[in-house]
Amino acid sequence: MVEDTPLKADFTSGAVVHRLRFGGGRGQALPRAIGLKNGKTPDVVDATAGLGRDGFLLASLGAKVTLIERSDHMHRLLAEGLAQARDAGGEVAEIVARISLLHGDAKDLLPGLTPEVVLVDPMHPPRHNSALVKKELRQIRDIVGTDDDALALMQAALGCARNRVVLKWPQKADAMTGLRMPSHRINGKSTRYDVFMTL
Ligand SMILES: C[S@@+](CC[C@H](N)C(=O)[O-])C[C@H]1O[C@@H](n2cnc3c(N)ncnc32)[C@H](O)[C@@H]1O
Repeated sequence: MVEDTPLKADFTSGAVVHRLRFGGGRGQALPRAIGLKNGKTPDVVDATAGLGRDGFLLASLGAKVTLIERSDHMHRLLAEGLAQARDAGGEVAEIVARISLLHGDAKDLLPGLTPEVVLVDPMHPPRHNSALVKKELRQIRDIVGTDDDALALMQAALGCARNRVVLKWPQKADAMTGLRMPSHRINGKSTRYDVFMTL
């Protein structure tokens, strides 16, 4: 049964590889929001690593990526997935060589990293049409709950990012209460990227 598929950080098959082959490279909304353009490739700290999908995409486009994950369970899945990708060799091994993984709360770790760009993609409160929430996201929510301290994480990121903070947020959701207006916004299909320049 599909529901029983165990959650896995998989960098060698499935959706991640499909996105690698057919995703659209630097023209996608996330790389544009991060500032991957005009030959620029900033270093990125992904403060909410999850299954590492966004971090892997950015690393596949040449960025050096530091993943931070505070959940023991999610961190273990990521460590296993990265190890498997290294063992697989070839292109995926080259990509994950640009990724490092940290275990802890990004609010505590970010200041010591003096990051250039920080990506924040917190777990959101359940939507009314929760049947539409992807199975994987529901599985992650069962493990980590909702990230009720997302505003504090954003403030920590804004306090130390040298170039920008990018907040990944559902397209139709209200803005995060208490957060300043973004400098600009890049719209994806169901997701938007609010970009806060800190230069
Ligand atoms: C929506 S998922 C991120 C998905 C990710 N963007 C991907 O591509 O797979 C959010 C993750 O961020 C983690 N997280 C949330 N707040 C955090 C914090 N302050 N420090 C570290 N990890 C955090 C959660 O445990 C969860 O695994």
